[in-house]
Amino acid sequence: MEPTAAAPALPRSLEQIRAEFPILGREVRGRPLAYLDNGATSQKPLAVIEAMDAFYRERNANVHRGVHTLSEEATADYENARATVAAHIGADRRELIFVRNATEALNLVAYSWARHNLSEGDSVLVTEMEHHSNIVPWHLIARERGAELEWAPITDDGRLEMEAFAAALERGPKLVALAHVSNVLGTVNPVAEAARLAHEAGAVVVIDGAQAAPKLELDMASLGADFYALTAHKAYGPTGCGVLFGRRELLEAMPPFNGGGSMIRKVGREEITWAALPAKFEAGTPAIAEAIGFAAALRWLDELGLEAVHAAELELSAYALGRLGEVPGLRLFGPPAGPDRGGILSFELEGVHPHDVSEILDRHGVAARAGHHCAQPLMERLGVPATTRASLAVYNTREEVDRLIEGLADVRTIFDG
Ligand SMILES: Cc1ncc(COP(=O)(O)O)c(C=O)c1O
Repeated sequence: MEPTAAAPALPRSLEQIRAEFPILGREVRGRPLAYLDNGATSQKPLAVIEAMDAFYRERNANVHRGVHTLSEEATADYENARATVAAHIGADRRELIFVRNATEALNLVAYSWARHNLSEGDSVLVTEMEHHSNIVPWHLIARERGAELEWAPITDDGRLEMEAFAAALERGPKLVALAHVSNVLGTVNPVAEAARLAHEAGAVVVIDGAQAAPKLELDMASLGADFYALTAHKAYGPTGCGVLFGRRELLEAMPPFNGGGSMIRKVGREEITWAALPAKFEAGTPAIAEAIGFAAALRWLDELGLEAVHAAELELSAYALGRLGEVPGLRLFGPPAGPDRGGILSFELEGVHPHDVSEILDRHGVAARAGHHCAQPLMERLGVPATTRASLAVYNTREEVDRLIEGLADVRTIFDG
């Protein structure tokens, strides 16, 4: 599939973009690295590495504490990072809580909102394609509160089954938790439509945006999310930093998640009052350099233009899906190439365990992941214990996809004898 005429091109050549990622210049097993494990974590451009390096070299201090110059500079950098992320997703800075990753963002909602709003007999609706991060916190809190976990099914080609989803909403779940982009199937879910239906049914909507942030323009108002979880390291940023967006009135009404320094207004022997948003949810010293790195990553993405990034990914995905379709005995999971199919390509190669596939690909310098991808209920639905997954980023090339296909041909040769 070619990008539509309207889709803008990337402002720099692929060669120039690749040159901004030092790690892409290295070799693995004597071959140039073909990094196709971006669903696990993306590589980092110089813009991010240098922003973090400059912080540690020139401005490092703790934030929100000192009145000395360095502390004020560090606080300004950290709060500017928040403003950058907030602007990127169309949110108010008070609605944006820095956390460690998407997992922590989802746990924050579970242990603050859900713990205080779920009662015996209530239910939480999740889908069959969720990552464990968007299952296990709901499972734990549902068990604690005597509530039920319900499952919205997917179609055989890996899309959300919308009629069944609407039917599940009629049973009145208190909360609906849904991935924006599946980390196994590449499906881009119709989250705005799902949120609209869920709101009509009176549910609070939590969107797991871990795989969406590196490729989609995000606007919280038009998505209609009540809560949205992001993780920096999959979006060209560092590990150790994520974001929870929450609608202000919900966050205002929620109790803190962690207790400690920075999140209080006043601590007395009998009574404690909480700091205003967003500090109420940011106990302890935050990941300062990482927040700065995350903001640098989003500025870098915005400079490329997310529409162009997405269009490039759709084009490379369509190429990769076509080439994978030529491999004998290969079963692909997820929707066919199209606008709701991102560059996450999971497959099974008949008669070969995904770990063997991945190990042989590694001999070709191709990094692809094998396993259940923290989505065991989905594996059960697909009827496989594990898959091999190649996941694309903006710096990947057709040549790297061709090397994946050559590696798979080698797997066939080795296993067919
Ligand atoms: C869809 C999805 N949700 C959540 C997560 C969890 O992200 P993190 O490990 O950064 O918290 C992942 C990570 O693979 C993911 O793919």
